[in-house]
Amino acid sequence: MASFDLIVLGGGPAGYTGAIRAAQLGLNTAIIDKREVLGGTCLNIGCIPSKALLVSSDHVRFAQHQAERHGLKFEKVSVDIAKMMQRKKNVVRQLTQGLEFLMKKNKITRLRGSGQLVAPGKVALTTPDNNLEEHTARHIILATGSVPMELPKIALDGETVVTSEEALSFSQVPEHLVVIGAGAIGLEMGSVWSRLGSKVTVIEFLPQIAAFLDVDVSRALQKFLEAEGITFYLDTLVDAVTVQKGRATISAQNQGKQPLQLTASKVLVAVGRKPYLEGAVAKDLGLRLTDRGRVAVDERFRTNLPGLYAVGDIIDGPMLAHKGEEDGSACAEFIAGKPSHVNYDIIPNIIYTNPEVAAVGLTEDAARKANRNVKVGKFPFVANGRALANDQTLGFVKILADARTDKLLGAQILAGGASELIPEVVSVMEFGGSAEDIGRTIHAHPTMSEAVKEAALAVDNLAFSIPPSPKG
Ligand code: NAI
Repeated sequence: MASFDLIVLGGGPAGYTGAIRAAQLGLNTAIIDKREVLGGTCLNIGCIPSKALLVSSDHVRFAQHQAERHGLKFEKVSVDIAKMMQRKKNVVRQLTQGLEFLMKKNKITRLRGSGQLVAPGKVALTTPDNNLEEHTARHIILATGSVPMELPKIALDGETVVTSEEALSFSQVPEHLVVIGAGAIGLEMGSVWSRLGSKVTVIEFLPQIAAFLDVDVSRALQKFLEAEGITFYLDTLVDAVTVQKGRATISAQNQGKQPLQLTASKVLVAVGRKPYLEGAVAKDLGLRLTDRGRVAVDERFRTNLPGLYAVGDIIDGPMLAHKGEEDGSACAEFIAGKPSHVNYDIIPNIIYTNPEVAAVGLTEDAARKANRNVKVGKFPFVANGRALANDQTLGFVKILADARTDKLLGAQILAGGASELIPEVVSVMEFGGSAEDIGRTIHAHPTMSEAVKEAALAVDNLAFSIPPSPKG
C-alpha cells in the first residue's frame, strides 16, 4: 500500500495532463491505467493512429489523382496495407513510450491495472496478474474517458460490424464499407478506406454531415467528399443490420420513408461516444451523474464525493482530447490551491478529411437563432496565391463577428491544413479580439493564413483580393 497526494484514474489526455501538472506543482502523484501503455483512446486507438492512416491514404489519393498535374507519372500505385499499419503502430509506440518517459521525468508513480474508488481517498487496484493492492490519496481524479456508443438493434461483432477501433486496423481494403454516422469518426475513417479503394457509403440520420458546422460549410465538405468517391444518404435512419457469412445487409429508411437496402463487407458504427465509468467507483458510494449520464461536477471539477474530482469525456462538454487536457490541468491546479480557468466557449473542433474542416465559437446559424446581430466575412482559397501554388484551392474561410462591436464570435475553415489555421482565430478570440484585429495583423506572404486575414477583412467588405466566383 502506498499513499499519495493525488491518484489519477485513467491515463488518456485528460488524466496524464492532470498528473503532469500536479507533479509540476509539487504533488506526490500516481497514475493508474489498465493498458500496458498510457495515452488512452486518443493515442492508442483514436486521434493519433487515425491521423497516421489519413496521411498515408492521402498520399495514395495524391499519387492517383493529383500527381499528374504536377508532371509526375506513376505507372501503378500499389498499397501495402501491412506496411501502412506498421507505420501507424510505430507512430503510436513512439508517442506512448514518450509518455512513460514523461511520467518518470516528473516522478509520477505509474500503476498498472483496474482501479476502483472503494471509499473516499481509497483506491483498490487489481493488477494485471490479479493481485489486489490498496492505495490512498487525499485527492483522486477520475479520467476514465469514453467508449463508442452502440445502436440498440445493431449488434457489433468486431469482425463485420465494427467500431473505429477495428476500422483502424482492417488487414484488407473492404470491398464496400458502410458507415453509420457522418461525424468526425465516420468521415475520417470513410475517407481513409475510400482513398485506399473501398466503395464507401455514409448513412446519416440528420439532414447534414458534421452537424456542428453551418449548412454552407457542411454542404461544401460533402461535395468534396462526394468528388472523392463517397456516397451519402442523409435524413436516413438505419433500422437493422444483419450479418450472414461475413456479409452485412443494412436496412434503413429516409425521412420520406423510402426504404433503403445495402449490402456491405464491413459496417462501421460511428454514432458518438458515451462516458466510460465501468467499475471505477464502488456503486454504494453514490456518485452523482447528470441527466445525460455524465459525472456531475462543480466549476472546480469536484464531484459529490469528498476528495473525488472528474475530468475529460466523463463530464459535460465535447468529447475532445484537447478539452480533456484543459480539464485535467485546471483540475490539478485547483487541487494544488492555484487559480485556474477553462474557456469552454472557445474549443476548436476539427475533422481531418481532405480538405480538413476546423470550427470554433458560434456558427452563423446558432448566432441567428439566438437573435445576435452578426456580420460574416468569407474568402475562398481559390483566390489565395499559396493555395494555388500548393494545389490546395478547395474550401474557404468563414468568419463571424458581432455587427456592432466587431468582436470575433466564431470561424469555420474548410481547407487543406485548416487544423493549423484555426489556432490564430482561437487565440484572437481568447483575447477578446475583433475581426479588424486579424485584418490588421501582418500575415506572411504567400501563406494559406492570408485567407484568414482576407476573410476577417471581408467582414467589412475590405478584402484586398477580389475573389473570383467562389467554388466552395
Ligand atoms: P459524432 O457525435 O461526432 O457523430 C455521430 C454522428 O452519427 C452524428 O452526425 C449523428 O447524427 C449520427 N447518428 C447518430 N445516430 C445515428 C443513427 N442511428 N443512424 C445514422 N446516423 C446516426 O460521433 P463520432 O464521429 O462517433 O465521434 C465520437 C466522438 O469522438 C465525438 O465527440 C468526436 O468529436 C470525437 N472525435 C473527434 C475527432 C477529431 O477531433 N478529429 C476524431 C474522431 C472522434
